[in-house]
Amino acid sequence: MGKNKVKEGLKENLKEPNPTAELTASHRAAESLKPETERICDDPYAIHFLSLATLEIVKDPVKLKAFSQQVGPLAQAMGTLIRLRVRYFDDFLKKSLKEGLEQLVILGAGYDTRAYRIEGLKENVKVFEVDHPHTQHFKIEKIKEIFGFTPEHVTYVPADLETQTLNQSLFSAGYNRSKKTLFLMEGLICYLTPETVDGILSFIVENSGKGSIVLFDYHEESVVNGTCEEGRILQKYFEQVGESFKFGIEEGKIEEFLLKRGFSDITNVSSEDYKINCFKEMNENMAVHNPLYFVNAIVSALQN
Ligand SMILES: C[S@@+](CC[C@H](N)C(=O)[O-])C[C@H]1O[C@@H](n2cnc3c(N)ncnc32)[C@H](O)[C@@H]1O
Repeated sequence: MGKNKVKEGLKENLKEPNPTAELTASHRAAESLKPETERICDDPYAIHFLSLATLEIVKDPVKLKAFSQQVGPLAQAMGTLIRLRVRYFDDFLKKSLKEGLEQLVILGAGYDTRAYRIEGLKENVKVFEVDHPHTQHFKIEKIKEIFGFTPEHVTYVPADLETQTLNQSLFSAGYNRSKKTLFLMEGLICYLTPETVDGILSFIVENSGKGSIVLFDYHEESVVNGTCEEGRILQKYFEQVGESFKFGIEEGKIEEFLLKRGFSDITNVSSEDYKINCFKEMNENMAVHNPLYFVNAIVSALQN
């Protein structure tokens, strides 16, 4: 959602929040309004981050249907993939908590509300949320509106990942390099340059405690460089939203990519397989040939 609303004038560098942060929140909000037995994910706070125009669409089934038809089947399918991704990342974080997670770093956090809604997190884990200053400023104001304060276990780190290294931004915010940390990059790396992605991954490998993990989603290169039909359609859609794809991973090369950069124990899941295995009954709007992938990997023991 949020399409059409966002043109050049709403780009981050013109001091407005990043439009894709609202886009993903709108999918979480729409899913959360469904009955408990029908929804893939649940984020009771997502609705607070939506503009009035988006809220009107999300809350009204007739407008929502008209909007879906307007954006077309591929963008609709992308919406479903976003919701599946939220659930996958939520479940992964819950499992990591049970396995002794000590620190959580959410890069490109946008309006991610896991720090505020995942049970058992605030008591045990220090959370760092990194995002562009303007998007983060908007988020902090909303968090204050919702809770009346910003929770102590969350540290906000305003940074442009393209121009500031994590070395510069995270340590001064109190990040502890010896703690077992989960790094989440949800809906982020496709918008970063390959050099920035490399910089982030090498920071993680060089500066995190034993058993630290990275979890992110990615598109294959053909989607990002528009050499497949779906890539061209999705790119057009995201350009209207105000963003462009910059980074994808060569087909079938994710393991090699992460091994080379100092990670091991790689688990790569295609959103299509995840859907089939975990949400068998759900088929609507899912005719995507090139799926999104969810991948997690541990910082190799040789690096610690
Ligand atoms: C698609 S949104 C995803 C937000 C959140 N992770 C989620 O899933 O709801 C992408 C986020 O990445 C952030 N982002 C993109 N490029 C960035 C950069 N160079 N530095 C910091 N944040 C960036 C945007 O501000 C936005 O919040």
